[in-house]
Amino acid sequence: MDLLHMVRGCTFDDFLFTPQYGLLARRDPDGVDLSTRFTEHLTIQRPLISANMDTVTRAAMAVVLAEEGGIGVIDRGFRAGDIQPQVTEVAAVKRTQHGIITDPHTISGEQRLGDAIRLMEQTGVGTLAVVDSEGKLTGLVTERDLRFVSSEGFVCERMTPLDRLVVHTGLISFADAEQVMTQRKIKKLPLVNQDGTLLGIITARDLLKHTQHPFATRDSGGRLCVGAAVGATGDYLERAAEVIRAGADVIVVDIAHGHSRVMENAIEGLRKRFGAIELVAGNVATAEGARFLLERGVNAIKVGIGPGGGCATRLTTNFGMPQVEALVQCRIAVGDQIPLIADGGVKRDGSIAAALMFGGDSVMLGSAFAGTEETPGEVVLKSVLEPESQKLVKVPFKVFRGMASISAVRDRLDLEEANQRELEAIGAEGIEVSVPARGSARTVVHDMLKHLCSAISYSGAQSLPELRRKFWSNPEKYVVKLTQPSRVESFQR
Ligand code: XMP
Repeated sequence: MDLLHMVRGCTFDDFLFTPQYGLLARRDPDGVDLSTRFTEHLTIQRPLISANMDTVTRAAMAVVLAEEGGIGVIDRGFRAGDIQPQVTEVAAVKRTQHGIITDPHTISGEQRLGDAIRLMEQTGVGTLAVVDSEGKLTGLVTERDLRFVSSEGFVCERMTPLDRLVVHTGLISFADAEQVMTQRKIKKLPLVNQDGTLLGIITARDLLKHTQHPFATRDSGGRLCVGAAVGATGDYLERAAEVIRAGADVIVVDIAHGHSRVMENAIEGLRKRFGAIELVAGNVATAEGARFLLERGVNAIKVGIGPGGGCATRLTTNFGMPQVEALVQCRIAVGDQIPLIADGGVKRDGSIAAALMFGGDSVMLGSAFAGTEETPGEVVLKSVLEPESQKLVKVPFKVFRGMASISAVRDRLDLEEANQRELEAIGAEGIEVSVPARGSARTVVHDMLKHLCSAISYSGAQSLPELRRKFWSNPEKYVVKLTQPSRVESFQR
């Protein structure tokens, strides 16, 4: 029996997998290869993506995901034409850590100390490179040098001059830089050309981040990677231009119905204007939809129509596709030609392994991160009746909402500008719920990775790539279709 036939009309809770002879010595994520492709040209070490939703992914969440080896996609849930807020979030992720800072903020020795103080305040940077008119390094000035001094003085009077700095000529590996900085007990290592022109700066803080987060998703300059979502109409070209300028590594064209003429036009427009940027498009849930996007030359496809925790599409339209069937259809349709992102419907960690086996190269998560510290939004205290004591207790909550929920759409429309017809046309395809506020998304990610390693162990594989190869070479060996009682036995606790 073929796999597609087995999964017709099915989703995650319809299956278990048959345990196999285990080979994995330790289920520790540090020692298991969990690498996968997010897009055609971007490999990530952990297959987890945070969803572009305005109650899930802003800079704080994207930083955690990238540091942990996945990636976050900053939502476009800002008002049409109001692009700067999204740009700010993308830029904040790109600024959190560097490899070599190739464009350090500079100042001239002849400028006033007041100028240096202002520049530090404006940029949030505590060390400025002092350069002459030809860009040659003459010193470093730090916040500490500027304490308790008159702003009328000159930078050259307070800086540490070149002859007292440890400087490296040419580029240097991180390992060598670490050695130099430890030996010489310095926190900043400026790099210069043979003629003394400033090339960049390496900081101890960035070095530390690299050691702390060995699986992080970084660009060629050592900065964390981040995606940014755009729509398929309206301001999407301008929005894409601005987020790309701010350093977005991937553009995600995210609309509810990706197998559509508007999507076709958007992909064409984006390719014409930005050429070979890394482009993800979605959502689709059928073989035809996946082939449609593949043929239009995108670099990854987002799969999922209606499985999401904040979704009401299936309730309000009766259209959609159970997520496991959607994944299998799309995987069979496009083979290994392009990565698939399994988007939505993960309510327990076991479904992550299932989504990756049934066809996802990575898994996009929204509600799984809801309520964590890194999600945007206020914490609100609500009175809840404690069942045991029958007392009212105050519990902290955060809002999680679908991007097509009435409140999210309303926030995106400029209410003063919007005309009555626009407001009436808001057809809610999303819901809004309060979820208990909890700890960091980092803990959630760590738990997910541990559980994924356990799943790999039960499967008889020793890595995620091997698990997926083994599954697809003989799915019947794994797939157990559940009955209603066995579903209850498996998932009801
Ligand atoms: P989970 O299940 O992880 O799913 O919360 C996240 C995905 O849900 C999708 N999404 C929506 N789908 N109406 C929908 O039909 C909505 O309002 C909505 N908001 C989010 C989206 O694909 C996300 O990544």
